[in-house]
Formats: sequence, structure tokens, C-alpha cells
Amino acid sequence: MSDTSPHVRIVEVGARDGLQNEKTLLPAAVKIALIDRLSSTGLTTIEATSFVSPKWVPQLADAAEVFRGIRKVPGVSYPVLVPNAQGYARAREVGATEVAIFTAASEAFNRKNINASIDESIDRFVPVIEQARSDGVQVRGYVSTVLGCPYQGEVPVREVVRVAKRLYDLGCYEVSLGDTIGVGTPSKARAMLQAVAKEVPMRALAVHFHDTYGQALANILACLEEGVRVVDSAVSGTGGCPYAKGATGNVASEDVVYMLHGMGITTGIDLDLLIATGAWLSAQLHQETASRVTRARTAS
Ligand code: HMG
Ligand code: MG
Repeated sequence: MSDTSPHVRIVEVGARDGLQNEKTLLPAAVKIALIDRLSSTGLTTIEATSFVSPKWVPQLADAAEVFRGIRKVPGVSYPVLVPNAQGYARAREVGATEVAIFTAASEAFNRKNINASIDESIDRFVPVIEQARSDGVQVRGYVSTVLGCPYQGEVPVREVVRVAKRLYDLGCYEVSLGDTIGVGTPSKARAMLQAVAKEVPMRALAVHFHDTYGQALANILACLEEGVRVVDSAVSGTGGCPYAKGATGNVASEDVVYMLHGMGITTGIDLDLLIATGAWLSAQLHQETASRVTRARTAS
């Protein structure tokens, strides 16, 4: 690896990216318990929820209740997604101190996901970022569809670079590059990261792979070799994006941490506790699905 630094920060996105696309809606109390469990594993960044429109993503309609209910462990950051000023205001009302804004490198996807062109969405984020700066709130940025789009197919790397640089220049402390539908392969992931890293410092980049074709770990390895040191993943590999048909879950945090520790790279995470949390979440989803089926049968 070009950078021999043996530490990688995992950004745990399961409670947001994972649960936003599960058919089974978990009660707020279970989401709170999940985040509290994650907080005890040694993770330092745990994306908690999304203050998006509840009509668009009903799974996270309880964002305020969840954010209020979680234990805020000192030293752990709990970013939340905000799509616009309204989302930012809702997030601030419950005390969020880090937010994530999100746009894409594909026009077609951005329209489906947030009902705006790429440039419109970025224009919308400018006042949010300015407000955040004056509130002392950290802003993370996402660029989706960096290796392919479910609607337009190929996504030019120059668009990924343009959007990532724009978010960084506007003040995002970190830009996460999202393979939203998991179509990337290691050589493409490497080339995309190399191109972005010419314009945005590598230390400000993260990678975010969905695992549709089982390529995520290989893609992460290629990006680690290029020098990336922040990896997004979701405990037990839940989820996907509701506006990206066919997108499966994020790479599982347990698998990423297992690989990193096996390579002698530290994460600060207790892998056994993380695996136990993943198993606990799977049991909760299973139990909730079973009760939903029982309720539907009783009602019919
Ligand atoms: P819109 O319909 O164009 O919004 O949606 P609008 O401004 O016209 O408002 C319409 C209604 O929504 C109004 O309510 C607003 O008040 C309300 P009404 O008058 O009809 O009752 N509204 C809101 N309510 C609560 N919170 C808000 C909010 N904003 C407006 N923040 C909007 C535009 C952006 C709101 C919508 O498209 C949306 O919420 N989209 C979110 C989609 C989403 O969450 N996708 C998944 C996350 S992205 C992802 O997963 C990718 C990522 O993981 C990286 C990767 O994998 O690549 C990050
Ligand atoms: Mg995602």
C-alpha cells in the first residue's frame, strides 16, 4: 500500500442506509437499541438516521424519535442525512452535530432520488453548508452512482470528479464515493478513486460499496491500496437505496473489519461485539417480519 498507516475508520451506515431499504419496519426502540449496541463496539462514526421526506422514505419517518433516544457516547459522531434546509432544521431541532448531504454523479439517478438535477441539488446545499458552518456542525458529502447508474448506465469519471470536488470545495470535510448499485469492479474502482484523488485530498475521501455482485471487499482492497483510509459499511449487510432498483445491501461491516484486522490494519472495533450486534439485528428483522406475517394473516 502506498500509505503504510495501519488504521482505517469505519463509517457504520446500517441504521440509515441499511434500514432505509428493509421491507420490515423496525420500531424506533429497536433502532435505538441497535445504535446503542453499535456505540459499544468501538465504532467512532455511526450514521443514525435520515431527515428526508417521510413520504419518500417511510422506514425512517421516526428520525427525530430515534435521534433523541440514542445514547450519545463521547468520542462517537452520529451523522444524519439531510436532503435540504428543512431536513437540516429538523436535524438541528434534536441536536444533531454532524450532517451528511447527498447528490450523485448521474443526473437520472439524482432526479429519481431527490427530485433535482445535480446542480440544483448542490445549489440547495449551499445555504445548508453555510448554516452548518456558523452552527459549528460538521458536514459530510456523498456522491452516488460513482461506478454506474440504474437509469443511465455508464457514469463518466469526470462527472464523479466534478461533483466530489464541488462538495469538498463547498466545505464537506469528507466526501464518500458511493457505488450505489454495486456494479463496480476493482480496476474501475481504483481508476475512479485515482481520478478523484487528483482533485480532492485522499485523506478527505471515503468509499461506500454496495455488494450486489459480491465485489465490495475486492473494491475496498483496491481502494486501500490507493491510500483511502475511510470505509463505509453496514452491520450485517442490510439495505440498499429505495431509489436504485436492484441495489442490494452495503458491504457487511463484520466482513470489512475481519479483512482489515487480518491484514494487520487497526479499526478500534471489537469484532466479536460487532458480529453479535449483526446477529442481534438479523434476529430483530426476522422476528418483526414473522409478526408482520401473523398480523396480516389474522386480519384476512
Ligand atoms: P420533493 O417532493 O421534491 O420536495 O422531494 P418538496 O420540497 O417539493 O416538498 C414536498 C413535501 O415534502 C412537502 O410536504 C415538504 O414539506 C416535504 P407537503 O407540503 O407535501 O406535506 N419535505 C420534507 N419533509 C420532511 N423532511 C424533509 C422534507 N423536505 C421536503 N427534509 C426531497 C424532495 C429531497 C424532500 C425528497 O426527494 C426526499 O426526501 N428524498 C430522499 C430520498 C432518500 O432518502 N434516498 C436514500 C438516501 S441516498 C442513498 O441511499 C445513497 C447513499 O447511501 C450513497 C450511495 O449508496 O450511493 C447516501
Ligand atoms: Mg448507500
